[in-house]
Amino acid sequence: MPGATVEETGREVTNMCGIVGYTGPREAGPVLMDGLRRLEYRGYDSAGIALVTENGDLFVEKRAGKVAVLQDALGADTPRAGVGLGHTRWATHGRPSDLNAHPHSDCTGRISVVHNGIVENFRELRDELAAKGHVLASETDTEVVAHLVEDAYRGDLADAVRAALRRLEGAYALVVMHRDEPDRLVGARLNAPLLVGLGDGESFLASDASALVAYTKRVIFLADGDVADLRPGTATITDIAGKPVDRPIDVIPWSAEAAEKGGYAHFMLKEIHEQPAALRSAMAGRVRGDNVCIEEIDALRDRFINVSRVELIACGTAYYASLVGAQLFQDWLGVPARANVASEFRYSPPPLDARTLVVAVTQSGETADTIAAARLARERGSMVIAVTNTVGSAITREAHASVFLQAGPEVAVAATKTFVTQVVTLVMLAADIAQQLGRRTKAEEDELVRALRALPEAAERAIELAAVTEEMASRYAEAAGFMYIGRAFGYPAALEGALKIKEISYLHAEGYAAGELKHGPISLLDADVPLVAVATRSPVYDKLISNLMEGKARDARVLAVATEGDKQIEQLATDVCWVPDTLDPLSTILAVIPLQLFAYYVAVARGRDVDQPRNLAKSVTVE
Ligand code: AGP
Repeated sequence: MPGATVEETGREVTNMCGIVGYTGPREAGPVLMDGLRRLEYRGYDSAGIALVTENGDLFVEKRAGKVAVLQDALGADTPRAGVGLGHTRWATHGRPSDLNAHPHSDCTGRISVVHNGIVENFRELRDELAAKGHVLASETDTEVVAHLVEDAYRGDLADAVRAALRRLEGAYALVVMHRDEPDRLVGARLNAPLLVGLGDGESFLASDASALVAYTKRVIFLADGDVADLRPGTATITDIAGKPVDRPIDVIPWSAEAAEKGGYAHFMLKEIHEQPAALRSAMAGRVRGDNVCIEEIDALRDRFINVSRVELIACGTAYYASLVGAQLFQDWLGVPARANVASEFRYSPPPLDARTLVVAVTQSGETADTIAAARLARERGSMVIAVTNTVGSAITREAHASVFLQAGPEVAVAATKTFVTQVVTLVMLAADIAQQLGRRTKAEEDELVRALRALPEAAERAIELAAVTEEMASRYAEAAGFMYIGRAFGYPAALEGALKIKEISYLHAEGYAAGELKHGPISLLDADVPLVAVATRSPVYDKLISNLMEGKARDARVLAVATEGDKQIEQLATDVCWVPDTLDPLSTILAVIPLQLFAYYVAVARGRDVDQPRNLAKSVTVE
């Protein structure tokens, strides 16, 4: 089946790799290495550069590991060169290795390519190129681009790149260089960020302003479909057909440090805003035509018919995402399914056998308890699927198959975009398996696909609507604590909202199943302890409203997260954060967005270290 274009699933994907390119009078090697170091704050798994040296050779060095490993391999000096490109990779296809690191070359060793994005039809293109005699060395989707350019090259690099682009489906920010055109760089963008930097007699390309603001603040933000043809100090922009287009030159007001955060005050805020793009990335190539298909589980498909129970294992935020997954596996597969806190799993394991499907959910892929639980399940003969953001992480070695979130690196300790991508990935995983087993109707599947396609835009709208949380936070920041409640798919959102408040504002918060309120915690509510209620449109809405009223009757201020157009809640709640309507299983994703922003602004109002809260580590690698 041909790969779906990204237009079908949405627009921009997350910025998963760092790209930098240079042409001009400086030594290109140090400029590129400096750019890569500035891009590395997001945490990458391999790095590489290519230069056209003053002798006319194409020099390439690339290494798995951090930029420091590449620097060690290069030594103190790079070959003299005025043009080059560099890349820090965050793996989506193929494990982190020297071979899979970018740049990638063609058969002749004259062309060099770096890429951020996903070439969705790369398997087809790879087979086609191999049939023509091309030898592809790596497991990456990117390498096909170098060979397509090689095929199309007739002495003009920009023409060849445009011809290659016409064959690609998916998302890309690309920079391409040819040994025989030694002062030229060609860049192109579709649904992945790329900008041109214009200095005095020198030009840059970068995926992120942080790589070039130290040299120039004059930039052109490329639009989708743009091809930029760079020579020192100039850039000519055309569309894919070669027709010139005009793009304004902007001046970036940011310092290098602010540029790393894309102009946001904190990584957490940046990552909250990246969620629509992260959702698009997570769905890229998986929401195809009118169904959902996760290729990574293909090798296990014969075994799903025997699955009699599903156990999800995870910690923290990933556990809350797993609560959504458990509801869906149970509803859609019609077998018992349960989310387990990984740190408890080994001490009271459920029956585990070959008929148990275990889904280990972990952003980092390195959480010690989740790994140990997955190992136990595997030892007992269960089938283990990892859902993780990190290619090559420890959990991928424990699992029979790994499904990647494709969310891009998350720097802030408080998880945000990886929560929403965990939820959407579990939705897709459950839907795919249920569909294969014939346990869902075509109408149900169609309804889900429609809702998934609309989700990134709905997330954008939820972010816009949540602008009110900044002012609200100033009124709630001095609360003594918070009580968060939700039911069904609103319950994991309540738990996650409470966790966000706890970890970054250091205020106590409880996340509770709303029906449990009366069984104890309601005694905590008073004028100083507000009730935060996830009251989006759902089959449990009326019951949730009753719980909300119980809080109101105890003098608690009530902050409700509700679906746009709900007239009733406006009369009942002290404050309302609106979110767009969506399918019930996806409502957790939209409901959590205002809760993330509320927690963020409360923490800022309280002067907390938002990105690195006290006592916490991004990944908990000890039990
Ligand atoms: C959430 O904001 C935390 N960073 C934490 O709860 C985290 O989700 C948990 O430690 C699990 O991490 P993992 O997804 O990398 O396994």
